[in-house]
Amino acid sequence: MPVAYLVFSAHELAMTIVELARKLFTCLTFFLATGPFLPNGAHIGGARAQYLLGLGIGDVTGPVVETNMMGYASLAQTDTGLHMRQRSRVFIIADASNPSDRILFINSDICMGDTGVRRTVVAELSSQFPGLYTNENIAFVGTHQHSGVGGYLEDLLPQLTALGYVNASAQAIIQGTVLAAQRAHANLAPGSLSVGNTSIVDGNLNRSPFAYLQNPAEERARYEYNQDKEMTLVRFDDASGNARGFLSFFAVHGTSLYENNTLVSGDNKGMAAYLYESMVEPNSMPGNTTFVAGFVQANVGDTSPNTLGAFCESPGQPWDGQPCEFEHSTCGNTTEDCHGRGPGFRVSDFESNSIIGGLQFQGAETIMSASRSSISGPVKSVHTYLNMCAFFCAFFFAATVFFLSFHSFTLPNGTTVQTCPPALGFGFAGGTTDGPGAFDFVQGDNTSDSQCVEEKNPFWELVKGFITPNPDEQQAACQSPKPILLNTGYAHLPYKWSPSTVDIQMLRVGSFVMLIMPGELTTMAGRRIREAVRAELISQGVLGNDAYVVVAGPANTYGHYIATREEYSVQRYEGASTLFGPFTLESYIDKYTSLVPFLAENATGTPASDAAPAEQTSKAISLQTAVVFDAPPFFKSFGDVLTDVQTSSAYSAGQTVSAQFVGANPRNNLRLEGTFLTVDQLASGKWTTVKSDSHPSTTYQWVRNDTILGTSTVTISWTIESGTPAGTYRLRYFGDAKAVFGGAISAFTGTSSSFTVE
Ligand SMILES: *[C@@H]1O[C@H](CO)[C@@H](O)[C@H](O)[C@H]1NC(C)=O
Ligand SMILES: *[C@@H]1O[C@H](CO)[C@@H](O)[C@H](O)[C@H]1NC(C)=O
Ligand SMILES: *[C@@H]1O[C@H](CO)[C@@H](O)[C@H](O)[C@H]1NC(C)=O
Ligand SMILES: *[C@@H]1O[C@H](CO)[C@@H](O)[C@H](O)[C@H]1NC(C)=O
Ligand SMILES: *[C@@H]1O[C@H](CO)[C@@H](O)[C@H](O)[C@H]1NC(C)=O
Ligand SMILES: *[C@@H]1O[C@H](CO)[C@@H](O)[C@H](O)[C@H]1NC(C)=O
Ligand SMILES: *[C@@H]1O[C@H](CO)[C@@H](O)[C@H](O)[C@H]1NC(C)=O
Ligand SMILES: *[C@@H]1O[C@H](CO)[C@@H](O)[C@H](O)[C@H]1NC(C)=O
Ligand SMILES: *[C@@H]1O[C@H](CO)[C@@H](O)[C@H](O)[C@H]1NC(C)=O
Repeated sequence: MPVAYLVFSAHELAMTIVELARKLFTCLTFFLATGPFLPNGAHIGGARAQYLLGLGIGDVTGPVVETNMMGYASLAQTDTGLHMRQRSRVFIIADASNPSDRILFINSDICMGDTGVRRTVVAELSSQFPGLYTNENIAFVGTHQHSGVGGYLEDLLPQLTALGYVNASAQAIIQGTVLAAQRAHANLAPGSLSVGNTSIVDGNLNRSPFAYLQNPAEERARYEYNQDKEMTLVRFDDASGNARGFLSFFAVHGTSLYENNTLVSGDNKGMAAYLYESMVEPNSMPGNTTFVAGFVQANVGDTSPNTLGAFCESPGQPWDGQPCEFEHSTCGNTTEDCHGRGPGFRVSDFESNSIIGGLQFQGAETIMSASRSSISGPVKSVHTYLNMCAFFCAFFFAATVFFLSFHSFTLPNGTTVQTCPPALGFGFAGGTTDGPGAFDFVQGDNTSDSQCVEEKNPFWELVKGFITPNPDEQQAACQSPKPILLNTGYAHLPYKWSPSTVDIQMLRVGSFVMLIMPGELTTMAGRRIREAVRAELISQGVLGNDAYVVVAGPANTYGHYIATREEYSVQRYEGASTLFGPFTLESYIDKYTSLVPFLAENATGTPASDAAPAEQTSKAISLQTAVVFDAPPFFKSFGDVLTDVQTSSAYSAGQTVSAQFVGANPRNNLRLEGTFLTVDQLASGKWTTVKSDSHPSTTYQWVRNDTILGTSTVTISWTIESGTPAGTYRLRYFGDAKAVFGGAISAFTGTSSSFTVE
C-alpha cells in the first residue's frame, strides 16, 4: 500500500483508539487461443504436453457497503457499492511424469496476500487434496489493487481504518479462492507452457525518483528507465496448442482509481483481466469464462499508474497546478495537495484505469501472439518462514534488554549485519503521490524524533506513544536513519500490529522461477534480487543461461515495503515503510539465494524454518456493527421502483440509464458468484441477461436513508457501450432484506420499466 494507514481525522483516530483501548481492557487476559492457433505447437517443440495444467476463477468480493476499502488506509474510503467484482484466479502446474510435483499459484484481485487468509486456504486445500497442495507449493499473491474490500488482514495495523477485523471480507476471499482452486483442479489436463516478454513504456512511472537517484550511478547506468517496463508472460496451452490462459507479470501500482472512489473494483489489473477474458469469450459473464487471464503484480514498490506525474491541487495558492516539490512530493510544504495524475486525468480516474488496464491487456496480447520460448523441465517449490527479529519478539513479554537478539546474517563482503523488529518511519504517514497523507508529515524526513517534536503534529506524538512504545536505543540504532513513527515490532497488544515472521517462497517450472515476495520491492530492489537469485541458480548448476526469474507480490504475508539501502537513506514513503531496517533487502537476498539448491531437479527435503506466525484471528477485535434490520419506507415494498428509467424516448450509446429502487443492505448476502443487478434484453419474447454487476459499464450504488427506520435506496446504472444492439432492455435489482423480528434474510427483486436503445 502506497499510503499511510493513518489517513483520517484526529477525531476519528481518537475514537478508534478509545474503542480499541476499551476492547483491550475488557479482554485483557488476548485468462480458445486469441493468439493465432498454433499448428502442431510449432514453437513449442519438445515441450508439448509435458505438464498438467488447471485454471480456475472464483468470486472473492466481500461486503460492498459500510466497509473500509483496502490500500489507501483512509477511514473516509468506506465502500458504497460495486463497479466490478474481485476474483481469485488459480493456476495449477504439475509435472505430467511426476504429478505430485506441482504448484498452485493464486493471483487474487486483492491488495495483498495475508497470513491468516492463506493459513485457512492452505488448510482447506491440503485437507481436500491430501499430499497435493501444501504450505510449500501454494502461493497467495495479491494484485495490489486499492479499490477492494478491506479488513481481511490478520495484523492490527492494516485493520486500523477498517475498525478492526472484518470476517465477512476474509471469508469471501477464502471461499472464492478455494472454489477457484477446486475448479482449476477439476480441469487439470495435459498441456504446455511458453514464456515471452514485451515492453509497456507508457504503463508506469516512478513516483519516488529522488529515492531511485540515491542508487549508485554505475548501477542506474545499466538501465534505460527508472522503472521496469517489461511485461513477462507465461502462456498456458492445451495439448492441441490452444491457449487456455496466461500468467503475466508487470509492475504498476493498483492506484488508478483514487482514494475518493468508493465503488468496489479491480483497478487496472482487474480491468486488464476483464478486457482479455471478455475478448476471448465475449458471450460469457465476467468471471464465468474458461479462459483465465492472470495479471500479476511484480516489483511494485515505487511504481505509479499516474503517468502524467504529480501536481499540486491547491486552489488559490501560487503553486496550484505546479508539479510537486521533487524531494518530498510536497505543495507548500505539505503532502495533502500533491496528487498523481493518470493518463485519463482530463476525463476521470475510471478513464485512467481503463487506459492503464488496456495497456497491460495489449501487452499480453502482443506476447500471446508473438514467438515465445518453450518451458520444459521439473516443477519445484520451496517455502520457509523467516523471523526477522527472532529471539527478541518471542520474548517480548519477558522483555528486558538482555534478551535482545535480532536476525543476523553475513553480507557477500563478509560483514555481519542484522534486521530489526518492524517499525514505520515518519515518511510513512506522509503517504505517496498516489494517495497523500494527512497532517503535515513530509516524505523524506530523516530528522530524529527528539530534535523536532515541535515540528511534528503533536497529536501523532501523543497517540504513537500510547499505541506503540517509544523505540529503545538499540531499535533506534538498528532502524537508523529511520525516525520511528510507529514502533510496531514492539506492539503486541491486543495482538501483533505488523508481522515479524515472513514467508519466503520460490516456485520453479523448468527454467522459469518465480520469487514470491512478502512485500513491495522497489524497482531497483526487484532488479537486485532477481539478478542475485539468477546468478545463484546458474552458479549452483541448478539452471543454465536460460534461467528466467520474475518477482510476484505482495504475497502470503504483508511485510510492507522493501527498498534498497540507498533509497532507505532518504526515507521517502517506500524507505519509511521498509519494516525491518536498512538491511531488509539484503536479508531477503541472503535467504532467497540460500534456498536455491532446493529448486534443483534432484533436490529432496525441506529447508530449516522458523516457527510459523501465530494465529491471531481468534483474538481479532471487530468494531464493525452487524446489519440491524432492513425496512421499506411506508406504503412501499423492497424492490419498488422509486425513480424509473426514461420511457418516453430512446437511449443511445454513451448515455447512462439509471433506476432507483427501495433497497436493503447488500451485506445480508454477498451474492458470491452471482450479481446484484442485471441488464436484460428482450429477444423473441424472452428476456436474456446481457450484463451483470461485474461489467465495467454497470454500477450498483447503495445509500442508507434512515438508520432508525432501516430504509435504504439502491441505484442501478448502465452506461451504454458503443456497438450495443438496438432493442428493448430493462434493469433488474437483486436484493436481500433482514427482517426486523428474528433477523431472517429474504431475497427480493426489483425491475425497471422496459426502455429502448437505438
Ligand atoms: C525478455 O526475453 C529475452 C529473450 O528470452 C531475454 O533475453 C530478456 O532477458 C527478457 N527480458 C527480461 C526483462 O527478462
Ligand atoms: C478525486 O480525487 C482526484 C485527485 O485529487 C480529483 O482530481 C477528483 O476531482 C476527485 N473526484 C471527485 C469526484 O471528487
Ligand atoms: C456460466 O457458464 C456456464 C457454461 O459455461 C453456464 O452453464 C452458466 O449458466 C453460466 N453462468 C452464468 C452466471 O452466466
Ligand atoms: C516552506 O519551507 C521553507 C523552508 O522552511 C520556507 O522557506 C517556505 O517559506 C515554506 N513555504 C511555505 C508556503 O510555507
Ligand atoms: C560491507 O558492506 C556494508 C554495507 O555496504 C558496509 O557497511 C561494510 O563496511 C562492508 N564491509 C567491508 C569489510 O567492506
Ligand atoms: C538527513 O538528510 C540530510 C540531507 O538530505 C543530510 O544532510 C543529513 O545528514 C541527514 N540526517 C541524518 C540524521 O541522517
Ligand atoms: C544433484 O545434482 C547435482 C548436479 O547434477 C549434483 O552436484 C548434486 O550432488 C546432486 N545432489 C543430490 C542430492 O543428489
Ligand atoms: C469467521 O466466520 C467463519 C465462518 O462463518 C467462522 O467459522 C469463524 O469463526 C469466524 N471468525 C471470527 C474471528 O469471527
Ligand atoms: C435516500 O437518499 C438518497 C441519497 O441521499 C436519495 O437520492 C434518495 O431519494 C433517498 N430516498 C428516500 C426514499 O428518501
